[in-house]
Formats: sequence, structure tokens, C-alpha cells
Amino acid sequence: MSLSLVPYSLITILLILPLTSYSLNMSTSSATTPARRAPRQLSVDYYARTCPHVEQLVATVTSQQFREVPVSGPATIRLFFHDCFVEGCDGSVLISTKPGSKQWAEKDAEDNKDLAVEAFDSINKAKSLLETKCPGVVSCADILAIAARDFVHLAGGPYYPVKKGRWDGRFSLASNVNLNVPHSNSTVNELIKLFASKGLTPDDLVVLSGAHTIGFSHCKNFVNRLYDYKGTKQPDPSIDPRLLKALRMSCPPFGRSGTVVAPFDVTTPFLFDNAYYQNLEARLGLLTSDQQLFFDARTKPMVQALAKDKQRFFQAFSVAMDKMGSIGVKRGRKHGEKRKYCSVHAL
Ligand code: HEM
Repeated sequence: MSLSLVPYSLITILLILPLTSYSLNMSTSSATTPARRAPRQLSVDYYARTCPHVEQLVATVTSQQFREVPVSGPATIRLFFHDCFVEGCDGSVLISTKPGSKQWAEKDAEDNKDLAVEAFDSINKAKSLLETKCPGVVSCADILAIAARDFVHLAGGPYYPVKKGRWDGRFSLASNVNLNVPHSNSTVNELIKLFASKGLTPDDLVVLSGAHTIGFSHCKNFVNRLYDYKGTKQPDPSIDPRLLKALRMSCPPFGRSGTVVAPFDVTTPFLFDNAYYQNLEARLGLLTSDQQLFFDARTKPMVQALAKDKQRFFQAFSVAMDKMGSIGVKRGRKHGEKRKYCSVHAL
């Protein structure tokens, strides 16, 4: 990205915004004995017979949400990521803590407090529509995977096929969250290790981080870079001075910034494109975890490759989302459930 594009963005856009807050091909052949059945796999046409219009139904909700409440887009993509990394892609992040229970659900973990309500709303609306058309059939986990893809596409990103057949998980524990999600100050080493523990490569890490081409972050996730980087009482020397100035104007060192957010992508904040990587090259990354991907020899080549080639990013992102969407999926009644309401376990 040419830096000459930046000042306009910094003045007009980067202004920090107030936050409003088949199937498994489960073989039905009688020739196949249960003991020899092939392991169930996710498949694109899993609901071909049971709910053939599932994708169109979800799309009516996601397109309306995107029109009326656009923050639903990035929020839902992040929700899918946090679902998959904790207990696998099983809708466990959607469960609400039982009133009076001492055991908090994932959703109420400190690391999930900023998952935007608009994302939960999108999934709950899609679920209630599906319950009127194909009751008891489509899992919340699948709805989340489809909705995340829809929002990627609605924001200008690729449209990729979503495999389905996930069941919803029976467990959701806040205490499982912290160690399974990355943090804004995680080192590249930590990120690579965490992603490897989910079966994802360093390239997947770089590609999936490209989701930060849309969406926002609260000041608290990067304020240390602005005033006191690693205890130096100085800003992060790697941050572009114009970005530093703009961010400081909205994020004071202490207090008052609790609800203030800044866009991840200062050049095209609402467009799903590869500008995220071009920004990293120009030292316009928002989080330490973003910017470090450009400085680490293990991830830099991929950042550079994707900065140059949007089609390559789209292709790689589609493949990586499919891979992420397969983490720890539950299949069948023995391991999972189908909920009527995504926020409440089935009886
Ligand atoms: C690689 C390590 C990652 C770290 C450290 C990280 C961290 C964060 C943080 C701190 C926020 C801001 C939350 C807030 O203040 O409200 C955020 C937002 C977001 N993240 Fe990540 N993230 C990572 C990877 C990913 C991945 C893999 C995806 C999806 C594939 C993703 C998608 C998003 C999206 C779309 C947002 C914007 C949410 C919104 O605007 O509501 N992130 N992330």
C-alpha cells in the first residue's frame, strides 16, 4: 500500500468510533455394518434431504443483519473463531450461563466479554427461522459456520463452500477459554504454538489473521503500544507515527476509553480485502500480535505474499476457514446435541 493513501484515512476513517455497543456421508447402505462404517465427515450437502434450503435461510438473516447492523459481520466471524478454538466448532460459545450457576459458560469468560451481542443476535435469529422450517435439524455450530462465511462474502471477501454436519457441544466452561484463545500481546512463538495445538500451521495463522481486514478493537488491546511499550515508557517504535498520533487522540493512557474502538484496517476498514497485509508492511498494524507477523522470519514471507496478491489471500482464506471449521467437531448423539435455542443446552 502506498503510504500516500494513509493520511486521508487517518483523518477521516481512523477516527476512533464509539462502540454501540452429506453428509457425512453417513452411509445408509444396509451392506455396511455399523462396525465398519466410515468415520463421519462433514460435508457440503449434509442437509440435502433434511433441510435443503438451509443456506438460503441463513442468508436471509445474514444479509438483513449486514444491511441494518453491519457490525454483525466482523463480530460473527470472530465469534466463529472463538467457538472453534475452545472445545472445537460446536456452538459452545453460544451457551448462556445458567441463572444462579457458579460455573460460568464460555461466553462469560473475560476473553469473550467483548464478543459483540450483534453476533449472538445474528445466530439466534437464523436459528429461530430454521426451527420454523426444519425443526430440530440444523445445529447452532453449523449455523455459525455458514453465517461467518456469509459475512466474509457480504464484506467483499470470498464465497467458499461450508461443510456441515457439526453437532452442538454439551459443555461450555469459561475456565477453558483463556488458554485456548490468542491475546493481543501474544508473541509470534505463542501464536504459532497455539495454532499448532489446533492443527493449524504458521501459514494458517497469517492467513486467518487476515480476518482483521474488517472490524474493530477496544483501546485496552493496544494502548500499551501507544504510551508504555514493554515497560519502556515509550511508544512501540515500530508503529507508524501518524497512526500513533491518531490512536493517542482517542485512547488516553488511563480511563475514559472503555467503549472506544479503532478499526483494524485503517485504509479500507469495512472491506474484506488484503489491505491488512499491506498495512502490516507499512507499520500500520493495530495489535502487537498483528504487527509482529511482519517482523518474524517465519511469518513475514506469507505476509508479503498476501499483501501482493488478493486472489491468493481469498483462496488461502477459504481453505483455512474450512480447516478451522473442522477443529474438534462433534458428530452424533453420543458426543453432541441439537439445541432448540442456541443459548440453552438441549434437555
Ligand atoms: C492470531 C491471533 C489473534 C488475536 C491475538 C486476535 C485478537 C483480537 C482482538 C484483541 C480483537 C478485538 C476485540 C475487541 O476489542 O472487541 C479481535 C477482533 C477481531 N478478530 Fe481477532 N485475533 C486473532 C485472530 C483472529 C482470527 C483467526 C479471526 C478469524 C478468522 C479473527 C477475527 C476477528 C475479527 C473479525 C475481529 C473484529 C471483531 C469486531 O469488530 O467485533 N481474529 N481479535
